[in-house]
Amino acid sequence: MNSPHPDPFSLADEAAAALAERTGQATHDAVVVLGSGWAATADGLGEVLADVPLDDLPGFPAPTVAGHRNSALSVAVGDTTTLVLGGRSHLYEGHPVPTVVHGVRTAIAAGCGVAILTNAAGGLNPAWPVGQPVVLRDQLNLTGASPMAGPPPPPDRPARFVDLTEAYSMRLRGLAHQVDSSLPEGIYAGLLGGAYETPAEVRMLGGLGADLVGMSTVLETIAARHLGAEVLGISLVTNAAAGMGNENLDHAEVLEAARAAGPRMLALLRGVLERL
Ligand code: HPA
Repeated sequence: MNSPHPDPFSLADEAAAALAERTGQATHDAVVVLGSGWAATADGLGEVLADVPLDDLPGFPAPTVAGHRNSALSVAVGDTTTLVLGGRSHLYEGHPVPTVVHGVRTAIAAGCGVAILTNAAGGLNPAWPVGQPVVLRDQLNLTGASPMAGPPPPPDRPARFVDLTEAYSMRLRGLAHQVDSSLPEGIYAGLLGGAYETPAEVRMLGGLGADLVGMSTVLETIAARHLGAEVLGISLVTNAAAGMGNENLDHAEVLEAARAAGPRMLALLRGVLERL
């Protein structure tokens, strides 16, 4: 996707304008990014006001990963107009960092002050069964990349040295616990991905303090915090991380675990959005 735009922030502004035009919603309040296997939770969140193919919007490639869906939905949930992005772009697909964080930047340009980022993850905590949702308490960005690297943000945006002390909002984590008081919290390690980890890598991640491992989210969280949005991260444990369980890993298993946990994830997302 070649862009004539001088910077990714202008492209996000343009995508937000296209989103407003295509959805008929001048602004959105919150964005939900649906990770692998979370796509079905878009159905049932609330009244769908508009459904736009993601790749009709400037800067959005069509999702290529099974379990994602090529749509941007405007959904009325409680008092909020929520933007639900049915798919995301990953580094491992070969996308550059600005493309990976474009959905979040577009949503914030569209007015969203809250970003709920969901994903499928391998679990390092043996107490967590497959299908366990986990609220992110913090993250380890192990991708080797950052949305704050490269040319400085334009003068009308915050400078690049983003404070990540509270990457994941205490307020939003509290709302998630109000909805489902049994939810555990964990630290998510985000890797480049493209392959699952080796058991040695998983042991290393455990030593670094990770409870969850996945291939997304961490760059979007940094981009969202840079622009001042509050972030809630929710992982769905779709498998024991490599070497932690006794099974081999495959993407179909990940999707099946997500499907089975659908009703619980839907209730959680809806409950948080209704309380914003
Ligand atoms: N590792 C990395 N990403 C994942 C995993 C995993 O075990 N499960 C789902 N996404």
